[in-house]
Amino acid sequence: MSILLQEALFLLLPTILSLLVLTNLVKWRRKKKLNLPPGLAGWPFFGETFAYLKPHPATSIGQFMDLHMSRYGKIFRSSLFGEQTIVSADPGLNRFILQNEGRLFECSYPKSIGGILGKWSMLVLVGEMHQDMRMISLNFMSSVRLRTLLLPEVEKHTLFVLRSWKQDSVFPAQEEAKKFTFNLMAKNIMSMDPGEAETENLRLEYITFMKGVVSAPINFPGSPYWKALKSRSAILSVIEKKMEERMQRMGSHGKAADQRGDEDDLLNWALNHSNFSKEQILDLLLSLLFAGHETSSMALALAIYFLQASPRAAQELRKEHSEIADKKKLRGECGLNWDDYKQMEFTQNVINETLRLGNVVRFVHRKAIQDVQYKGYDIPCGWKVLPVFTTVHLDSSLYSDPHDFNPWRWQKSSSSSTSTNYFTPYGGGPRLCAGSELAKLEMAVFLHHLVLNYQWELAEDDQAWAYPFIDFPKGLPIRVRAVT
Ligand code: HEM
Repeated sequence: MSILLQEALFLLLPTILSLLVLTNLVKWRRKKKLNLPPGLAGWPFFGETFAYLKPHPATSIGQFMDLHMSRYGKIFRSSLFGEQTIVSADPGLNRFILQNEGRLFECSYPKSIGGILGKWSMLVLVGEMHQDMRMISLNFMSSVRLRTLLLPEVEKHTLFVLRSWKQDSVFPAQEEAKKFTFNLMAKNIMSMDPGEAETENLRLEYITFMKGVVSAPINFPGSPYWKALKSRSAILSVIEKKMEERMQRMGSHGKAADQRGDEDDLLNWALNHSNFSKEQILDLLLSLLFAGHETSSMALALAIYFLQASPRAAQELRKEHSEIADKKKLRGECGLNWDDYKQMEFTQNVINETLRLGNVVRFVHRKAIQDVQYKGYDIPCGWKVLPVFTTVHLDSSLYSDPHDFNPWRWQKSSSSSTSTNYFTPYGGGPRLCAGSELAKLEMAVFLHHLVLNYQWELAEDDQAWAYPFIDFPKGLPIRVRAVT
């Protein structure tokens, strides 16, 4: 180091030190005046992140929430993901946070998620660009499209998977559920057919990608995150190739309009109905593949798990679907239609109960964009805020015997408006899941054919764990027999 630099540092050091002391003093005084929720900061930088993320059974709230809630109540502060955080297990505050998106709070996922899903991913975007992307997704999954196009597609993909099951064989149900939702999304996003080598390669690449999305964001050669970034590039190059082929076909009429009658997919929509750049479309497609594939496949695996442990619920479900199937036979109809779907009332109760008890999305990431006050507590601008859904869904003051799988609690006569108002498996407010109706349809149609054709049992003990993403460690091995 040159003498001159050393001297400059020597002169500046006292100023830097006093500035540091001053800013800490200001922060400390400000904190003293604020009425922050009770809590601890934990270790420097990591804070309590490892304890918060410690794996636990999916049907429980986990030790961290248990301990903190008994010590501090339903609203407490912590230091998580490298940030000062307010954790909320309070149904009212969770609702308030979701409803005030863009005004008091804003979506704020860790940087690593943006790194892997892309900076234009819907999950990380805020403001106008988020609105534009959301519009495209909502239009693509509109109720008209659900009734006319997506319902037959969902049924086709269900049968594709279920017909591959062999009598008395044992296989991982979680993987079958993933195959179903992946094939459905790949077809509807970019017209890729199930079973084709290209689709299978993409699916395998996607499995590596997913391992990285849920891993620690440590980017060194060989780490899951590093492998996931490589898979991201591989997946994007497949989507990009599809996009270029499509754009070439646009030809002189300037639209990627359907030339072959089979390309009414999201890629076409994005090319025809938006002014997005190529990079933006790539991230939109990838984030929809992610959002629409992982969640609904896990929800389906959970339903398969809960139903095998609840013969009474499985029996009532089978009764509902047999009645629908019998009526269709009498009318000489084949293929489910919207009226059939609307008759699946108990099925919707099973879906709700699966999401309440299994909690596929356990919490979401937000930050305060203004100083906010709630129930006398201060939530300072810039702080991370985590509305935790699991604690609400398993709260015994809202749901009696919350650890029991009880689909009947959702029957109109027995469910209270309180328990439904605070039921947020799909989030809420302006960022409410764009695919919630599709997810329900997927589950209902899959369950229809599943219960009509098969009985199943666990071939080995397994249960869902929250890592915090949900996973069955053994893949949920089941043995199936045809319904006689
Ligand atoms: C049971 C299945 C599903 C569950 C539990 C679920 C849950 C959620 C939740 C909680 C959010 C809010 C995230 C946040 O606020 O930060 C969300 C957002 C989203 N979901 Fe789902 N989802 C499911 C299925 C699907 C499907 C099938 C699709 C699409 C094909 C989809 C597409 C999306 C999209 C695009 C968003 C972002 C919405 C926005 O930011 O405006 N989801 N989902």
